[in-house]
Amino acid sequence: MSTRELLRASIAHTPANPFKESQALQTFEDGGLLIQDGRILAVGSYHEIAAMAPEAAVTDWRGGFIVPGFVDAHVHFPQMRVIGSLGHSLFEWLARVALPEESRMADEAYATDTAQRFVHHLAAHGTTTALVFGAHFETATAALFDAAARAGLRIVSGLVLSDRSLRPELHQSPEEAYQQSTRLIRRYHQHGRLRYAVTPRFAVSASEGMLDVCQTLMREHEHLGFQTHLNENSCEVTDVDRQFPWARDYFGVYERFGLCGPRAVMAHSVWTTAGELERLAASRTAVAHCPCSNAALGSGMFPLRPHIEAGVHVALGTDVGGGTGFSLLKEGLQAYLTQRLMPHGFGLTAAHVLYLATRAGAEALGLDDVGDFRSGQAADFVYIRPGAHDVLGDVLARAGTLDQAVAAIFTLGGREHVREVRVAGSVVFRSAFSDAR
Ligand code: GUN
Ligand code: ZN
Repeated sequence: MSTRELLRASIAHTPANPFKESQALQTFEDGGLLIQDGRILAVGSYHEIAAMAPEAAVTDWRGGFIVPGFVDAHVHFPQMRVIGSLGHSLFEWLARVALPEESRMADEAYATDTAQRFVHHLAAHGTTTALVFGAHFETATAALFDAAARAGLRIVSGLVLSDRSLRPELHQSPEEAYQQSTRLIRRYHQHGRLRYAVTPRFAVSASEGMLDVCQTLMREHEHLGFQTHLNENSCEVTDVDRQFPWARDYFGVYERFGLCGPRAVMAHSVWTTAGELERLAASRTAVAHCPCSNAALGSGMFPLRPHIEAGVHVALGTDVGGGTGFSLLKEGLQAYLTQRLMPHGFGLTAAHVLYLATRAGAEALGLDDVGDFRSGQAADFVYIRPGAHDVLGDVLARAGTLDQAVAAIFTLGGREHVREVRVAGSVVFRSAFSDAR
């Protein structure tokens, strides 16, 4: 039997859904997380867990925090280098910024370098699982899967499919899309920590023939994910209405081809109607809320309360590069701030933002064994620690409760506070900052 490791720090996780249950946040001031063979054996107060496992090797991270690995439910790997191009709305940004960069992914060396850097940035920000838009090119999408496998992250991704409205070099025919996707599915789906998601870019750039191919792929392979964009921008919604006159609404286009259900994640959902919300919930299709992107692209304010009241499952996405960076901490804060500013916004608490940044994403992806610290779960976690002289440290020293500490971490925490990241117990990132303990 391999040795057991006992990690000692303040611990916070959400073993329950705070949108449904009032006591969803579980915290331990002087906590212990006992792990073995990549799994969590127990979580609790340090002394209680230490008594259960007196022989365990103790990793002493007192003064720091352990939270579950972050789950990014919507992010684009080929857009890593165009983060921060402010001042555009969706279609203009796609045409001028995002799509030209995505065309560069035809160059295998450039794509491979981008994929490696992208995966490193995910890990360095504490993201252990991500649902990633691949590239429009097979070799570039393969490069992402290869980089993720080497780094040890849990990545769900797929070739981005489009056959109209973008740039000619980004289009495939439905036949090519089928063949290339099938090869990638055979090569990567359910290999180690990788999974495949069928990925039409959005209805605007997909013909009915392409959506039909997506449906065929979903039928031909078990346990595939599905990802696309939905109701992000009001002009986009108008375009979809024009292009699919038979559909009752935007979601109705995907529904018609069976592209909904558990393990399907729709990004944005800013302009979704009451009827669509009802059907999203009934089909158990999840929504990736990307508040930094929605603000940066001026897409609109996400109606979280109607989603929750309708029973739609919501997770968080950074939407790099329309979004403003890789941090799920920042995304959680922006979600909170957006709701504060909205009429009838949802009053998010520390429990909600931690849940949204961790377990909610795992649930959206259908990954039952990550996202919290219940025993038997995979040991995916982030060690967060303030520096000796930074504001977060000063605030945490005064925080009266761990609820307040979690809120402060989302408010002030960043990549510089991420000291170590593990997936299934193995280190996938360790900070080089000199005052890391
Ligand atoms: N809709 C279609 N493609 C994209 C994209 O790359 N980013 C965002 N934010 N929306 C999209
Ligand atoms: Zn996106």
